[in-house]
Amino acid sequence: MSRVIAIDGPSASGKSTVARRVAAELGRLYVDSGALYRAVTWRAMEHGVEEGDIEGVIKSLHEMEVLFRVDAGAVCFTVDGRDPGLALRTETLNRRVSEVAATPAVRDQVVAWLRDMLPFGGLVMEGRDIGSVVFPDAEKKIFLDADPEERARRRHAEYEGRDEASTIGNVQSSLTLRDLKDTQRKMAPLVVAEGAEILDTTSRGIDAVVEAILASVRG
Ligand code: DC
Repeated sequence: MSRVIAIDGPSASGKSTVARRVAAELGRLYVDSGALYRAVTWRAMEHGVEEGDIEGVIKSLHEMEVLFRVDAGAVCFTVDGRDPGLALRTETLNRRVSEVAATPAVRDQVVAWLRDMLPFGGLVMEGRDIGSVVFPDAEKKIFLDADPEERARRRHAEYEGRDEASTIGNVQSSLTLRDLKDTQRKMAPLVVAEGAEILDTTSRGIDAVVEAILASVRG
């Protein structure tokens, strides 16, 4: 069994907040797996790869140097020596990341990076396929969900003031489109992993969900 608590679910279901808090409470390292799909996308965009140019994305993937380190309770990384930071969170990148995340060569590389993190210590890893593909032997699997309207409201609040294209309406359509692509892609689609506990964050709220996970982990 891998020392991993897998937290999967759709965009803006509360995964990041919940996973960070669970990791802090348990003294484990937080891992944002989506940030790696975003980093591959960002690096390709930085090198002028156009939307739809999958060959270009793969070429960029082979050239990119990703270095991991532990910082402030999380596994962090640099890309070609740079920390991409908030550049990973723009609406433009949101529109392009699903196509990149649906590319088998990209998924193989990201899964390998994620599995290589085990020696850092016990992990709380959030994503879409952590319990189903990356660590099917995770010690605990959680699937977080929330109503689409609530998810759009949360994501909009995150972006307010720093993204040109942010209204609740277009955040919701971008999220819906991305969820559709994430659930319908051939490789590692978003599914509830076997043995996962499903928790809805619309009705329960983040605090209650964190408590429920901690209780479940502590047995
Ligand atoms: O969680 P996020 O919004 O940062 O994820 C970015 C994209 O990467 C999104 O399209 C889903 C995809 N992703 C994935 O396919 N598998 C993961 N384990 C994590 C994210």
